[in-house]
Amino acid sequence: MRAATRGTVYLVGAGPGDPDLLTRRAACLIEQASCILHDDLVSAEVLQLAGPSSSMLNVGKRCGHKAITQEQINQLMIGLAVQGESVVRLKSGDPLLYGRAGEEIDALRRVGIPFEIIPGITAAFAAAATAGLSLTDRRGASRLVFASGHHCREGRRQNFAQTGNATVALYMPGKDYSSIRSDLLRDGWPADTPCVLVSCASWKSQVTHATSIANLCSVSPLPAPSILLIGPFLSAPELSQVTEEMDEVAH
Ligand SMILES: C[S@@+](CC[C@H](N)C(=O)[O-])C[C@H]1O[C@@H](n2cnc3c(N)ncnc32)[C@H](O)[C@@H]1O
Repeated sequence: MRAATRGTVYLVGAGPGDPDLLTRRAACLIEQASCILHDDLVSAEVLQLAGPSSSMLNVGKRCGHKAITQEQINQLMIGLAVQGESVVRLKSGDPLLYGRAGEEIDALRRVGIPFEIIPGITAAFAAAATAGLSLTDRRGASRLVFASGHHCREGRRQNFAQTGNATVALYMPGKDYSSIRSDLLRDGWPADTPCVLVSCASWKSQVTHATSIANLCSVSPLPAPSILLIGPFLSAPELSQVTEEMDEVAH
């Protein structure tokens, strides 16, 4: 296994939470790094792999009392690398999806700091795997679309018009499933299209709720982090069972 190099920044995918889902390279770098800058969603179990002498800082957007700007995170990473530290910039899931990696890579390139990107299992893949679902299906789901629900929360309409024949993985879906439902229906998605909400994929507290676009508005919000998968081939008999049990509890 290659050792962590001093003066290098590693953009590492921490996966969805279960440390067994880390890549070997990610686990090795987390153990070896002298500094770890991590996001909020990185699980405690993954952080526990850090070496006893490594310094660790939560630079997540919701980190306690003080919000750290992206520019400050960039400068912190660069400063530590210049001082000769081996820096792991640890992001949940895959570092290149909804993790502002582009801005960090630009900042590192500008000042010539060497970096390496270590992929991780993204939330959509973990959610589908734990729910026993395939994200593509040659019978009619030939594309996979990664989308962010941020648009919905900012009052902007989500454009699902170009997502026919696809499975959509909606990250950060928020709690207003009704507006997601309206956007999908307005863009021509059939109301009976299966939807699967997965909260805390791969955590002990994982909850999976199967429903349809039509019924999205009657689903109680699941705890964050959660992801919404939408697609014509996302149904499985055992998922319907889970939904019925949850509905029974609710009534
Ligand atoms: C800022 S994005 C980061 C995505 C991450 N880079 C990835 O590849 O999964 C955070 C969103 O990812 C999703 N997410 C991350 N971890 C999750 C998990 N364990 N279960 C369900 N959704 C998760 C949620 O939609 C959450 O709001």
